[in-house]
Amino acid sequence: MIANKKNEIILILDFGSQYTQLIARRVREQKVYCEIKPFNFSVKEIRRIEPAGMILSGGPSSVYAKNAPIPDKEIFQLGIPILGICYGLQTIAFLLKGKVDPAIRREYGHAVFQIDDDKDLFHGLNTSLNVWMSHGDHVTEMPQNFVPLGHTENAPFAAVADRKKSIYGVQFHPEVVHTEQGKKIIRNFLFQVCHCKGEWTPDHFIESSVQKIRDKIGDGKVVCGLSGGVDSAVTATLIYRAVGERLIPIFVDNGLLRNGEVEEIRKAFEYMNLHFVNASEEFLLELKGVIDPEKKRKIIGNRFIRIFEKESRRLGKIDFLAQGTLYPDVIESVSTWGPSSRIKSHHNVGGLPEKMHLTLVEPLRELFKDEVREVGKLLGLGKNIVDRHPFPGPGLAVRILGEVTEERLEILRQADSIFIEELRKRKWYYKVWQALSVLLPVQTVGVMGDERTYENVVALRAVTSEDGMTADWAKLPADLLNMVSNRIINEIRGVNRVVYDVSSKPPSTIEWE
Ligand code: XMP
Repeated sequence: MIANKKNEIILILDFGSQYTQLIARRVREQKVYCEIKPFNFSVKEIRRIEPAGMILSGGPSSVYAKNAPIPDKEIFQLGIPILGICYGLQTIAFLLKGKVDPAIRREYGHAVFQIDDDKDLFHGLNTSLNVWMSHGDHVTEMPQNFVPLGHTENAPFAAVADRKKSIYGVQFHPEVVHTEQGKKIIRNFLFQVCHCKGEWTPDHFIESSVQKIRDKIGDGKVVCGLSGGVDSAVTATLIYRAVGERLIPIFVDNGLLRNGEVEEIRKAFEYMNLHFVNASEEFLLELKGVIDPEKKRKIIGNRFIRIFEKESRRLGKIDFLAQGTLYPDVIESVSTWGPSSRIKSHHNVGGLPEKMHLTLVEPLRELFKDEVREVGKLLGLGKNIVDRHPFPGPGLAVRILGEVTEERLEILRQADSIFIEELRKRKWYYKVWQALSVLLPVQTVGVMGDERTYENVVALRAVTSEDGMTADWAKLPADLLNMVSNRIINEIRGVNRVVYDVSSKPPSTIEWE
C-alpha cells in the first residue's frame, strides 16, 4: 500500500486548530499521503512510522497557558523535517528556548508578509504576500541556530528555520485560501524540504486497497449494506473487485427513498448480485403515528439492523461487514471540530458487528469525501452516484415533519423530484452541497381559481458547504425558485404554498429534523 510506504507519509500533529483537516487536504492534494495524530503522539510511534515530515498545526491555546498542548521535545531530535504553523511555530520557539510573547498589536485576519529568504520554503514565490493570521502571540526571540525567513509589520519572526535540522515555522496559515500562494508553500515543504515523491493517487489507492481487502478477507464472506450514497457504493465496488461474488451487497428498500431511487440502485448494482429486500411496509407500519424526530431515527435504525441481521443469517455464514466509514470519522483529534461533534452517517448498522460476531472491513477509513469521489469515478461508478448530494439514512422520514404516511411521502417525492430536476436543468445541482424539500405539518389558506384552498406547505432548502458541518443557504436565482414554486403548486395536488429556507448552519441544521 503506497499509503504505508516508508518515507512517504506526512504526520500532522493536531493542537486543536479548526484548520487541521484543511492542512491534511492540502497535503493530499499534492499526492502525498498524510495522517492527523494528536499533539502528544508518541515518539516511539513516530519512529516506527518514519514519516517524511511532520506538520505541527495551529491551535487556540497560548504556549504559556495552563494545560496548553505541548508535544514531546524529542520530536526535534528525530531528524525528521518539521513545519510548525502558527501555534505550531510557537511550540517550536517555546520548546527550543526562543521567546513567545503576546503581540502588542494582535494580528487577526489579513497581514502582509515580506519574504527575506527564499531558498526552500518560499522558493519561487512573490516577495510580498497577503497572508492569514489568527493568533494573539508571536515569536519575539528565535531559538539558537534559527534564521529569520520573513516578517510582517508586527511580527519580526513571522517565518523562521533551523536548516541544519530542517525545522521550519510560519506564524500565518498557509493552508487557508486567504493566504496567497499558500499551496506553493505547502508544496515547497513537501518537495523541497521533505523530498516527497507525490505518488499517492487514486489508482495507487485502488490497487493497494484491493490487495489489502483480499489479504484480510481470505476466503471469507462479506456483507455490505448499500444505501445509494457514494460511500457505500464505492466500498461495495472496491470489495467486489477484490473478492468478487464473496461480497453480498444488501439493499433494503425502507420505503423512505426518493422518486426512482430504488430502480436506479438496483440497476447500478445488479451485476454484483444485489440482494434486494423490500421492507417498505414494515417500516411504514412501525412509523405510524410517530412524530418525534429522534424516535423516527431510532425506529428506522433498529428496524434496519433487524432486517440486515435476518437477511445475512439466511445467506449462510458471513464473516465480515463492510462499511463506508470515512477519515473524518476516525481522526483522533483534540479539536472540538473533530469526530465528537459530527453526526455519524453510518449509524444504520451500529451494534451489528458485535452482535453477529462480524469483523469490520472499512476500506475508505483513510479518505476524505472528495477522495472517495475520485476513487468512485476511477472505479467506473456513474456521475449520478459519485457526485450526488448526501442523503440521510432515515431518508424522507426526517423531511416529513409530523407523521410519515404513504400519502405525505408521495407529495414530498413529487416536490423533491421537481426541485432537483430544475436544479439540474439550470446547472445548479453541482453548485450546491445539498438540496432538499421538506413537507411541513401545517396547512395554509390559498386561492385557486375562485376557490379557497387549505393545503400543505413545502419548504425548499439548498446549502453550500465544504463538509456539511457548517453551511450557508444557497443564493439560488429568483427565476429558478419561481419556476420550482409554480411547478410544485400547479403539478402537485395538496400543496398551495412553497417557502425557501434562508438559514445557515449553525445555528440551524441542514435537515429540518
Ligand atoms: P444536519 O441536519 O445535522 O446534517 O446539519 C448534516 C449532514 O448529515 C446528514 N444527516 C444524516 N445522515 N443519518 C445520516 O446518514 C442521519 O440521521 C442524518 N441526519 C443528517 C444531512 O443530510 C447532512 O448532509
